[in-house]
Amino acid sequence: MSHPPLSDRIEAVEESKSVKLAGVIAGLRANGEKVIGFNVGEPDFPTPEVVIKATQKALAEGHTRYALVPGEAFLREAIAKKLKRDQGVTIAKENICLSNGSKQVLYSLFQLICNPGDEVLVPAPYWVSFPEAIKLAGATPVFIPSEDGTLNFDELIKRKTSKTKAIVLNSPNNPSGLIYPKELKKEIVKYCKSEGLYLISDEAYETLTFGDENFIGPAGLADQNLENTLIVQSFSKSYCMTGFRLGYVAGPVDLIKGMNKLQSHICGNTPVFIQKGALAALENEESIANGMREVFRKRSALAFDLCREIFPETPMPQGAFYLFPKIPTNILEKYGNDEALSLHILNEGKVALLPGSYFGMAGFLRICFSTSESEIIAGFKAIKDCL
Ligand SMILES: Cc1ncc(COP(=O)(O)O)c(C=O)c1O
Repeated sequence: MSHPPLSDRIEAVEESKSVKLAGVIAGLRANGEKVIGFNVGEPDFPTPEVVIKATQKALAEGHTRYALVPGEAFLREAIAKKLKRDQGVTIAKENICLSNGSKQVLYSLFQLICNPGDEVLVPAPYWVSFPEAIKLAGATPVFIPSEDGTLNFDELIKRKTSKTKAIVLNSPNNPSGLIYPKELKKEIVKYCKSEGLYLISDEAYETLTFGDENFIGPAGLADQNLENTLIVQSFSKSYCMTGFRLGYVAGPVDLIKGMNKLQSHICGNTPVFIQKGALAALENEESIANGMREVFRKRSALAFDLCREIFPETPMPQGAFYLFPKIPTNILEKYGNDEALSLHILNEGKVALLPGSYFGMAGFLRICFSTSESEIIAGFKAIKDCL
């Protein structure tokens, strides 16, 4: 007899389509094909030297043991200081728990706050892992539709039911590159407070903003004691540490206690030598982030201009490193849908990008400009030539 099937829970979840496609592209490249990668959502910069050195030193010093589940005091204190400095958020280390990447933070959070049958409001377009992490907790993602990537508050409150537990906000947004206006963020905090909801604020791209103003999240605007807001943060994007797998949540103490309980059975702690590297990243944030922001600002302007020549309805990116063009009707009709078009561009143009339907908005494309200017120019030329 063959072995039993997998659980219904895991069968109901989809593998990350962007991760899956990255595997296909790796296969093409292994066969000698040259593919321009407009698909991968990670900075193309090397991990900063200060981070590598601090990590190596920590390894040499023997920081290789089991340690505190939520993370060492030195890093949680540094994070609390950073949140105070950047957003006026007043919390202590007891409000913070580190996990293996913000992916794990999000998975754990939905396990903590959702019962089966609960609902979580997710504005479209959304990052691919939000709905699946919600489903893994037995809850239901309820999507807020959008015409153009912006979020309409009335559409959001229309979908709130007695089962709603939380709203997920991600700004700067993956995939749209848009930043939600401050007034909207304030309004949503006010709404979460009056309705008794969690506001999960994924701030993975906080240092990658292209306007004159620095990032400020919903907590910084209207919930500085973190009564309802859970700040989810990642070391991956801002400090080029994707492979270190480190992220954290900052939130109310009782929730963090629950997080510790859960994490003590999942992975225990995150490695202390990684935390030492992360401390170096925070201590050098200004030089790391400023340099990168300038490069991405320049690339975003270049990519935006080239993209608009092919896809005139492309909103100007305000942060992160993504463009989210609407596919013109004539192109959409020619290829059928956004998935077929992406596949055509991959096969004929040798450019990898992602269909908007992966992110809850069919008829769009996600183009990541986390690559050199020459690749950006070559990539858009190849897309133009193959259509
Ligand atoms: C919005 C958003 N949140 C979280 C993550 C995951 O980051 P991490 O590497 O910390 O798991 C990503 C990665 O693409 C992302 O785009």
